[in-house]
Order: sequence, then C-alpha cells, then structure tokens
Amino acid sequence: MTNASHEVVKGPHHSGDAAPIALSAHSITKRFPGVLANDSVDFDVRAGEVHTLLGENGAGKSTLAAMLCGLYQPDSGYMLRNGQPISLSSPRAGLQHGIAMVHQHFRLVERFTVAENVVLGSRDLSFTLKRKNIDDKVAAVAESYGLPIDPQAVVGELSVGQRQRVEIVKALYQGAEILLLDEPTAVLVPAEVEKLFENVHAMTAAGKSIVFISHKLGEVVEISDRVTVLRGGRVTGHVSGRGSTDTKELARLMVGRDINLSTQRASHATGHEVLQIRELSLASEGVDILSNISFNVHEGEMVGIAGVAGNGQRELADTIAGLISPTSGTISIGGAMTTDRGPIAARELGLAYVPEDRLGMGLVPSMSILDNLLLTRDRRIVVDRASVRPEANRLIEQFEIKANNADHIARKLSGGNAQKVLLARELSGGRTVTKLLVVCSPTRGLDVGAIETVRRLLDDARSAGQAILLISEDLDEIMSLADRILVLYRGAIVHETPGESAQLATVGAAMAGLKTEGAA
Ligand SMILES: Nc1ncnc2c1ncn2[C@@H]1O[C@H](COP(=O)(O)OP(=O)(O)OP(=O)(O)O)[C@@H](O)[C@H]1O
Ligand SMILES: [Mg+2]
Repeated sequence: MTNASHEVVKGPHHSGDAAPIALSAHSITKRFPGVLANDSVDFDVRAGEVHTLLGENGAGKSTLAAMLCGLYQPDSGYMLRNGQPISLSSPRAGLQHGIAMVHQHFRLVERFTVAENVVLGSRDLSFTLKRKNIDDKVAAVAESYGLPIDPQAVVGELSVGQRQRVEIVKALYQGAEILLLDEPTAVLVPAEVEKLFENVHAMTAAGKSIVFISHKLGEVVEISDRVTVLRGGRVTGHVSGRGSTDTKELARLMVGRDINLSTQRASHATGHEVLQIRELSLASEGVDILSNISFNVHEGEMVGIAGVAGNGQRELADTIAGLISPTSGTISIGGAMTTDRGPIAARELGLAYVPEDRLGMGLVPSMSILDNLLLTRDRRIVVDRASVRPEANRLIEQFEIKANNADHIARKLSGGNAQKVLLARELSGGRTVTKLLVVCSPTRGLDVGAIETVRRLLDDARSAGQAILLISEDLDEIMSLADRILVLYRGAIVHETPGESAQLATVGAAMAGLKTEGAA
C-alpha cells in the first residue's frame, strides 16, 4: 500500500458507503533548509472520521498538519476540499474553508482572558460585542462541547491542560469543520483525555473530521478510524484503526524495531538526603497553593509526585528551583538552605530542572541548539563555542535529536526534538555536578524510541547516585519508575506509598481526593 488517496478504508463508524472525503492532500512536498520534511505525501480525511498521523519525533507530522491548515505552503503538490482544489495562503484562509489547527505549542496571549483569546482573530463582530456577551458566548460554546472553562480567567494563570482547552474552544468557536489536533493529549491527564475523546466522538458524529496526532499508541488504537504512518517525511504505512491494530504493531511501523519500556527500580540502598523540604507552604492572593509539605529525596532515589494537573505540582517544582519564594517553610539541597536564594543558587548547589513548559521556560526559542545546551552550564557571556561543539554533537547523537547540526534554531525543531534538547542539557549536567534532578513530565510528547532513551537516562542518573524528583501526570510512568510515590492533592501530600507495592486504584483514588488508608 503506497497511496492513501486511492484506497477506500471504511471507518467502523460507517456502514454502507464510506463518507465523502472532506480534505485531501496529494503529493505534498515541503523542504526546509537541509530537511525534506514532507516527501510526496498523500493524505485525506473523511467527514465524520478520525484519521491519525503517527511517526517519530521529526517525522513531519506537524509540518503536514501546518500545510493542511494554511500555516505553511507546500513546495509542490495540491489539496482538495470537498473535491475542489484549494490553495491556502494563511491560517485565515484555512479557517474560511473550515479548517483549524490546535498547535503543539500554544499560541495564546498570556495577558488576555480566555474569552479575549478565543475571539481574537475571528471575523466575528468581536469589537462591537459587549464583554459580557462575549464571555457568555464563549462559555456557551465551551460548555456545549463539554469543555467548561472560565471565560474571564487570564490565560497566563492557567495550567497547560486548561490552555489547550482554550485552543480547542477557539477552533470550535471559529466554526471549524476539520480540526487538526497536534498532540492534544500530551498535556492532558487520563480523565481529561476521556473527556476529550467523548468530545471527539460528538464532533465526528456531527460530521466533523479530526486529524489526530499522538505518540500514545494505546490512544491511537482507541480513537482512530485510520492511521497513516510517516517516517522521515514519507508515508510508510496505513492501518485501519480501532480494534484492528495493536500498539506493538504501530510501534514497529513507526520506529522499525521492537521497543522495551521496562525499567528497574533502585536495587541498591539509597544514601544521604539530598533534597529536604520542611513545612513548605505557598499562598497567592489568599489561596493556599501548597500546604505544609515535608518530604526528602535521597541519593540514588527517585521520588514520584503523582497528581492531577493544577494541584500545585508546577508551583512545587518552581519553588524547589528557586523561581518562586514560599510563604513559609524551608528547602535545602545537599544540606545547604536554598529558600529565597533564587534559581542560580539552586543550580550552583547541584539542581537540574526540566520544567513543564519547555519552550516558555526551558529553552530560548530564538537560540540555536548549541547555545541552548550551553545556557545553564556557563553564565559567562563569552563562551568558547568551538570547545563545546563536540559535546553538543555527542548529545545530539545520544538523544537522537533530528536537526541538521548544532546551529539549528530551537524554534524550528519539531516538538519532540525541542524537548530532547532540554532533556539533554539537564540530564547531562555540564559543569556543575548534578545532585538533584527535578523533572516534570519528562516523556510528554516523545515518541516511543525517545521514551525508551529518557527512561534509561533517568535510570542511569539514579544509579549514579543522583536524587530524582519525578513530577508527572502520567500515572503509569510514575508507577513503573518511582521508588516512592507521593500524591499531591490541592497542594497537600495526601498519600505516600513505596513504588513497588503501589496500587493503581489506591493512588488513583488519592489523586481524586478520596480518602485512603495510607493517607498522610
Ligand atoms: N520552520 C521550520 N524550519 C526549519 N525546519 C523545520 C521547521 N519546522 C519543522 N522543521 C523540520 O522538519 C522536520 C519535521 O518536523 P515536524 O515538526 O513536522 O515533525 P513532527 O513529526 O511533528 O515531530 P514531533 O513528534 O517531534 O512533534 C524536522 O526535521 C524539523 O526540524
Ligand atoms: Mg510535531
């Protein structure tokens, strides 16, 4: 099978004739300097179906989606909308044809409210509408798709998951018939994913088309009517989705080999306390964000913080990293107090930090891979780039970062590859010896091959005696990696269990705020 456009694959939704093709791309080619991002790609999506794009980091998925919505223009090839040729010169033109994309990196204005962001750029009479009316209208759209959100909330204060909800509501508000969802679930917790999928089903039932991009193979099997696999910019396979394919087969199609995600917990005794947190509390405008948190992480130990997004995880990590000062309580790293001493002091004491928001906080988008790799390891202005280039090249190879060379600008990396740069920098330590590694959702957005690499690196760091604090909404990940699991709920630690004997149901219940036996 080589050509999607000549095949008729029926989604399980449809009985009788397949639904008409809503949007198709034919022989689409897109080249960036030094990279053939899409190589004669054929792709189509029918009304009422979910067609998934699957592929390794850098395979060309986001690029294809960007052309389908008008953000990028193909170098060659053509597109049809309901069988008619279209040429999309901009996302606005895409919208006029009912095509909208929810991006991997959000494009919201942080200072604006939810409602302002939603109506921004729409051809609505937004400027003549009263604010109250806009708020109501936005809330109504959100509500009708089961995505409730406060229209007056300021986007900058929302969690990643909530921001994504705003992006989806925005596309729906603008009347999208074809929604391109670029890794929408990467930032969602299981319950939110379920909701999103209900919403996707509601939309497909109403005849809308969904182009879905995800690295989570279980989800792909669950949600897709069809799957197209991209590799190195080319279509390498088609499978029909739900039920008729399994995750192993998809993994093999994607990376061309079997994947092993099993890890070993620390078998050795753990050493001294590296991170000590004592009675830490954080309040903002009278609201408790962190309440009286105390715990330690030892040398060679990985402690997992489980919890549903928005329960204080981000603030806990930022507080440890010295980016936020706590209201009360203390933090020490390697026996030295770091409370109120700022992020540089924390780094100098041996902290490495992978924040939740990679491109906002972790990387400088306009800088090269090389400079991003150097960013935290040497604060002198003049750096001898030549001397670190071999090291940068080694990291690019080790982390399988898909880029021409170390001078590639971070903004132009694929989502997963940008993330790998950040991980490479933080996991490789550089000048200061890492004693404590705080990582937030380290494998989010990575393909299965990269997840394997990152898990191995975390294992290695632990074996080398680093203390690791793993903060993740991916419960499976925490359950399979952490030596000890703490559950954060409404800013407090409500449950603690050794990783080995952790029960999924018990940890899940604690995450939902239900009282459990092991309650702290
Ligand atoms: N604006 C750009 N300028 C230069 N190169 C780019 C640009 N956008 C993407 N690329 C390159 O094109 C290739 C495909 O990138 P793309 O973002 O489409 O990958 P992807 O499949 O979405 O990967 P991921 O799973 O990591 O998000 C990569 O090698 C990437 O570095
Ligand atoms: Mg992408």
